[in-house]
Amino acid sequence: MQLIKSVSELRSVRSKLAGTVGFVPTMGYLHEGHLSLVRRAAEECDHVIVSIYVNPTQFGPSEDFEAYPRDLERDMSLLEPLGVDIVFAPTDDEMYPPGFQTYVEVTELTKVLEGASRQGHFRGVTTVVAKLFNMVQPDKAYFGQKDAQQAIVIRRMVADLNFPLEIVVCPTVREPDGLAMSSRNTYLTPEQREAAPDKARALSAAEKAYMDGERSSGRLREIMLDVLNSEPLAEVEYVSVADNETLQELDGPIEKPVLLSMAVRIGKTRLIDNIVLGGTDRG
Ligand code: PAJ
Repeated sequence: MQLIKSVSELRSVRSKLAGTVGFVPTMGYLHEGHLSLVRRAAEECDHVIVSIYVNPTQFGPSEDFEAYPRDLERDMSLLEPLGVDIVFAPTDDEMYPPGFQTYVEVTELTKVLEGASRQGHFRGVTTVVAKLFNMVQPDKAYFGQKDAQQAIVIRRMVADLNFPLEIVVCPTVREPDGLAMSSRNTYLTPEQREAAPDKARALSAAEKAYMDGERSSGRLREIMLDVLNSEPLAEVEYVSVADNETLQELDGPIEKPVLLSMAVRIGKTRLIDNIVLGGTDRG
């Protein structure tokens, strides 16, 4: 496994790889969720490239860019046994050299949900992922259902800009109590950590109601809110029942696959979770 920090070296090593290349973009501080993507890439591709880069352009001014956990050595030791060929960990100067002024924007899908709460977030994500795709030139790129809207936005970008690669979306990996794994879980105090699985409980309650025949989008929203509101430490930012393709909020009865999603603050930590109902749930 080779650690590469410059784009020129990455291009040179990449050009010598024969066969298919699977790519897993990450911001590091890896957990089982990330590693599940790497394992899938290793199963499906001849070579695996993982990027580790905390991308400043996807963090808002009042967000946690500085505080975001970083530990390259630990990440490397987790990736080593998985058969990763290259870890690409560029510097900010490599990614955004002086004079940088070109951005990639998916306009409509980013107006709702995370995009509505985090102005400019997806512009930063699509820009950095487009750059990484150009640098790595993968055959397949792996994303987690945990960030459902991100995966949908990236698929749109890949189709719209004719990137010659396939996007694979992998299921959300959870802790035994249901909490979706996230690098941000490390911010939680023990008391907050106990409150955190309320999101998974809210999603399970809505899923159960759906399985029992409930098809009212408003009712599913209420069921989720009831669970979340019963947790005093959780402050709900949004709860959504939306079309899983267009991400438009649903009013009436559910007919097509729906994305149930939410963002909740526990103390200063903002956590998200989701499930898909009524479709081939990729997560
Ligand atoms: P990061 O939050 O590090 O996540 C990297 C990838 O791991 C994303 O595709 C994310 O959906 C996936 N992932 C995170 N937690 C997961 C879980 N519990 N189960 C399954 N997959 C999980 O997402 C980003 O970084 C960045 O926005 C990035 C795409 C790297 C661009 O900067």
